[in-house]
Amino acid sequence: MSMLDLTEKEFEKIVEIMYKATGVFLRSTKKNLIINRLRTRLADLKLNSFSAYIALLEKNSTDEINIFINQITTNETYFFRHALQFNFLHDVILPDLKEKYTHQSIRIWSAACSSGEEPYSIAILCKEFLKNNINISNDYIPNIEIIGSDINSEVIVEAMEAHYGEKSLRETPESIIAKYFIEKKIPIHKSSKPQNTASSINSINPISIRYYLNSEIKKSVKFIAHNLLNEFAQKSFDVIFLRNVLIYFDSYSKKRVLSNLYAKINNGGYLILGLSEGLNDTDLKFKFIHSGIYKKE
Ligand SMILES: C[S@@+](CC[C@H](N)C(=O)[O-])C[C@H]1O[C@@H](n2cnc3c(N)ncnc32)[C@H](O)[C@@H]1O
Repeated sequence: MSMLDLTEKEFEKIVEIMYKATGVFLRSTKKNLIINRLRTRLADLKLNSFSAYIALLEKNSTDEINIFINQITTNETYFFRHALQFNFLHDVILPDLKEKYTHQSIRIWSAACSSGEEPYSIAILCKEFLKNNINISNDYIPNIEIIGSDINSEVIVEAMEAHYGEKSLRETPESIIAKYFIEKKIPIHKSSKPQNTASSINSINPISIRYYLNSEIKKSVKFIAHNLLNEFAQKSFDVIFLRNVLIYFDSYSKKRVLSNLYAKINNGGYLILGLSEGLNDTDLKFKFIHSGIYKKE
């Protein structure tokens, strides 16, 4: 057995620490994934066993717990994921809210936003909505506030930087990419070591393509690190996106998170869940509207 094997007991401990900190319940099928994700951290700390790492986490060092959370969370996301729901936001929800509000801001929260693709997709759609639906000369123009939050502090930094690889834009229409992103070719520096001159002349530097988000859209979203198990110290919202995160929670954490969010949605506001997620196990007063879309009554 190699030193970096994770025993069942150690895995259970890791599951418990993650659950306590985030509400995320790691199933036994995730064991190899966890080993792979933590391997580099153990090497950085020069620890040669998981038991030593667990001892460090159990000392309750907040910094290390945060790094642990950053390693373990699954942050898969992309722009305009489940386009159906974004179309519904544009065609139904925003017109409904615009009708309702004439003086207040429309507030939208992308809870568990990962690296920002979701709240920026919302911001792009809001911009398009305002452009297409408002007659500037005699119509009231609603102010739209968008907040993105996530427990993982590293993805929040990426979100604030707002540049993306092709994978993040795989479902984004070409016309939107052309309008809201600037494409840049960035040389990839494989190593920071000084290169031998002869070999550096002969080698072709690989290039990565990054898409930089338009600065107006970038500025229109505010990002905050936030754990959904806790109350969010913000004014309430008209729309909350909570997509593709409930799947990681057990029934208890799911209820806790949903009741926190319920308290933060205005009456008549909307909750948007991932397509495979639902409100079973809860008795919250939401009306089913469309795939994954609920309205607070
Ligand atoms: C799969 S991503 C979903 C991203 C985006 N909502 C989407 O649907 O494309 C799930 C995100 O939930 C975050 N997360 C997990 N537990 C959390 C918690 N307790 N509080 C806040 N965010 C959490 C993870 O860090 C991760 O970025």
